[in-house]
Amino acid sequence: MRKTLIAGNWKMNTDRAAAVALAKGVAAGAAEVDGVDLVVCPPTIYLAVVGEALAGSPVALGAQNVYAEDNGAFTGETSTAMLTDIGAEYVILGHSERRALMGETDADVSKKTHKALAAGLTPIVCVGELLEEREAGKTAEVIKTQFEGSLDGITADQITSVVIAYEPVWAIGTGKVASPEQAEEVHADLRRLLSERYTPQLAEEVRILYGGSMKPGNAAELLAKPNVDGGLIGGASLKPEDFLGIAKAK
Ligand code: G3P
Repeated sequence: MRKTLIAGNWKMNTDRAAAVALAKGVAAGAAEVDGVDLVVCPPTIYLAVVGEALAGSPVALGAQNVYAEDNGAFTGETSTAMLTDIGAEYVILGHSERRALMGETDADVSKKTHKALAAGLTPIVCVGELLEEREAGKTAEVIKTQFEGSLDGITADQITSVVIAYEPVWAIGTGKVASPEQAEEVHADLRRLLSERYTPQLAEEVRILYGGSMKPGNAAELLAKPNVDGGLIGGASLKPEDFLGIAKAK
């Protein structure tokens, strides 16, 4: 069975003191959460101090992005080796904000996914449709294109080390959560795509998270859906009680 994964994407929030306090708050309450993998993804600059604050706790550290080159003249970028060096185990890739604001393409995401896997990091690969795409009935088509492009060349041996996050763009930071049925429909579609590309058995092992205005109050019904294996949490990951409340809703 797939173990539920709740990951917090802090985005460009907190300062050093707040990041450490938030990490400590999550770590302190983690023991009350049973059978759920917890991950926090602070801004790159606070990864190291947050890693120290999490030491000895079951909460894993994740980054929000990485660059797909080993080292060299790439001003401002961070390599996979740098992430593993400071103890990161996960990395979010292809978030819709990076796709929209930094022009990240499916090809970029695929390159990063390969690089992350080679370094032993667990990539959390994000896909999701825009509101106008949903309204035009194009959700399934958009998700398929992003799935195929972002996971291009990922082998059967690698796929179970990948986490997929379905984040409908219209639900991110808007308070407009997808209904459990809307989420389940896309998650089941993703599972079918996995099954067709790999095998039904391997597809059953891949965790698919939902992200977009997930809160303690709506988490239980989303997490109850058979193909929703966890959450990628933005706003509600900035308070330990909210983040842990979502994990406890499983
Ligand atoms: O990556 C998580 C995210 O995009 C969802 O954000 O604030 O809607 O939970 P939020």
